[in-house]
Amino acid sequence: MPVPRARLLTRALAAVLPVALLVPAAPAAGADTSTTAHGPQPVARGYLGAVSSIDADATAIGTAVLRKGGNAVDAAVATAAALGVTDPFSAGIGGGGFFVYYDAKSRTVRTLDGRETAPAAADESLFLENGSPLPFWEAVTSGLSVGVPGTPATWRDALKAWGSRPLAALMRPAERLARSGFTVDETFHRQVASNAERFSAFPASRDLFLPGGAPPEVGSTFTNPELADTYARLAATGTADLYNGEVAADIADTVQDPPVDPDAGLTVRPGKLTVEDLAGYRTAEREPTHVRYRGLDVYGMPAPSSGGLTVGQALNMLETKDLAGMDESAYLHHFLESTRIAFADRNRWIGDPAYSDVPSAELLSQEFADSRACLIDPDSALTSPVAPGDPRSPQPCAQAAPGAPTPYEGEHTTHVTTADKWGNVVAYTLTIEQEGGSGIVVPGRGFLLNNELTDFSFAPSASGVPDPNLPAAGKRPRSSMAPTIVLRHGKPVLAVGSPGGASIITTVLQVLLGRLDRDLTLPEAVAAPRASQRNSPTAQVERAFLEQPATAGLIERGQRFADTPSEIGAVTAVERLRDGRWLAAAEPERRGGGSASVVLPVRLPWDR
Ligand code: GLY
Repeated sequence: MPVPRARLLTRALAAVLPVALLVPAAPAAGADTSTTAHGPQPVARGYLGAVSSIDADATAIGTAVLRKGGNAVDAAVATAAALGVTDPFSAGIGGGGFFVYYDAKSRTVRTLDGRETAPAAADESLFLENGSPLPFWEAVTSGLSVGVPGTPATWRDALKAWGSRPLAALMRPAERLARSGFTVDETFHRQVASNAERFSAFPASRDLFLPGGAPPEVGSTFTNPELADTYARLAATGTADLYNGEVAADIADTVQDPPVDPDAGLTVRPGKLTVEDLAGYRTAEREPTHVRYRGLDVYGMPAPSSGGLTVGQALNMLETKDLAGMDESAYLHHFLESTRIAFADRNRWIGDPAYSDVPSAELLSQEFADSRACLIDPDSALTSPVAPGDPRSPQPCAQAAPGAPTPYEGEHTTHVTTADKWGNVVAYTLTIEQEGGSGIVVPGRGFLLNNELTDFSFAPSASGVPDPNLPAAGKRPRSSMAPTIVLRHGKPVLAVGSPGGASIITTVLQVLLGRLDRDLTLPEAVAAPRASQRNSPTAQVERAFLEQPATAGLIERGQRFADTPSEIGAVTAVERLRDGRWLAAAEPERRGGGSASVVLPVRLPWDR
């Protein structure tokens, strides 16, 4: 991270300033900082721990756990449980996710794979009908797309391994929130409205989310007593009820016989998920991905997520480029080209490692990165789809086989980042896939089922290119979730993640580059306009990105952007500042703005 002289001076001052000169940030130290009179607060700085999420109630619950002596893992679980209440269209106990944890005592990074699995009855033809792939949206709203949820098991197993509080205690605040309710905001209202048609086809989804036949009004109180009861059952049974009990039986029934209103005129295909599939679910502890970048250690989630491998490969490709010295157009061109190429490799090589040989070490080798970076022309964009390279025998600048385009993935999901007073850090991304998942609420249980299995390729993505992401019994679909923790000399400096389907990877990379190479503060890097190039002829783009002066230089180089700009990602992040404070950052605008909080807020005069 380049350090300008002025900042070196202020850091030196911070080191010698008496504590009395530090300015406690309003509200007073120790108070919750996740909301202000003006709404959620996207940035907080201070001591004793930090939480950042997309939702103020969830962040407040996580911060309260820290304040009462819980650690970062406890806070992440409590925050995630609350998000299942207030952000149920992105994540919840009906879905899965990936948990990355830095353990301050051992100075190691650990990961937990809580990805959903396909039922034992699944095979390559899961999404084929008469030999052809189903239309994507018909697959989404179906029992076929529902994988065995991994989120409750992730909470249970993360707490068992690294937590300090019982699951029951950490689920209680979320249970209370579901019972007493929270205030509906624009984002919640919009998410119901955009799903209203399919929610209205399922009586359980309709009764919950469309009371009186319409989305809940902004400003009204939304309660979910059935979810509160389900949380209480999970808490009492240590999640066993969802894997071996009555909730498991209800999930299997719902998937096998989707409870659709016969008058809705919607064809909802049943799935084959069984109680045995639920009983057999296991999380997996996996070795994190690791790359060195600018003297830092960057850790992420390995396969079946492509997040850590693809972010890591792109960083390796950019390591030899002087991004800090480039003008903004040249820098953004290199960023876009790195992910264009890395996605070609991701699509060819990454899937569930239990089903195909994922050459993870080779994908992250500097030799492979250099052989791919040599394709980047500083003055001209490559034509997509770029062909994948072969990390097992890197050929510099090779461009032989046909390329595989990146299949569509849902753009929802959510991310939680926490840190505690001991220096432990969590980056946890969780999801039910599409906004609203499968659209199917389990009757009487108050939560939506995922549609994660649509993250599988329905058919090989390009003829002649092997696809490691076809469905199979018990297999985990490839993910793009990229919870990331960065260390300097074994200690955390940054933790970051985002929702956004395949754009998660480009978003996390862009935030890392913004912070590590471009001298943006973390809040600036989070807020910066985004683009996402995933080996497609046009990159996904935000309107603000198109409107910035540097974009002209990108277009001159042949970069092309989608005609319809769309919001990309919703980052939450935490940084350990050099003066020892935590900086928690969330979105100022995207998804209605996120919520950052620290246990003991302290502002210094030079904070920008
Ligand atoms: N469903 C989003 C992801 O796994 O990347």
